[in-house]
Amino acid sequence: MNNNAIKTIVMGSDHAGYHLKLKIKAHLESRGLEVLDVGTDTPESCNYTIFAHAVCEAVTGGKADLGILVCGTGLGMSMAANKHPGIRAACCENTFSARMTRMHNDANVLCLGERVLGFGLACDMADLFIDTPFEGGRHQARVDDINALDQR
Ligand code: RB5
Repeated sequence: MNNNAIKTIVMGSDHAGYHLKLKIKAHLESRGLEVLDVGTDTPESCNYTIFAHAVCEAVTGGKADLGILVCGTGLGMSMAANKHPGIRAACCENTFSARMTRMHNDANVLCLGERVLGFGLACDMADLFIDTPFEGGRHQARVDDINALDQR
């Protein structure tokens, strides 16, 4: 499967996700995708929220098609990202979830944990996330319900 509509990925990490972010970034660039890296740019300790916000704003502002966030577990990033209207962020730990959250949830941000995943598995998950299209159909009404929560 290859979702040719996806051209630009925005990525961000904190210090605990810094090395995995660089691995995934290099992998995606080797595939010919454009990667916008909003930081962090060093392994110095920092707050993951800053980078969650920057990635989400790039996605909702149309600067990128999808976002990938990496921290130690992926959990804090997903909590911060899901506060943004228009963001459907999924914290995934396996390839099945990374694929299904595109097919059924139309997720637009993938959150990964460097302390949880190996580099090879994480790159496979990023590939599946990017290459799998939303199925629509019966899932559209459910995604519409999620999106409606942004208006509350
Ligand atoms: C940083 O130590 C760690 O708490 C952070 O990267 C993330 O895992 C939080 O959810």
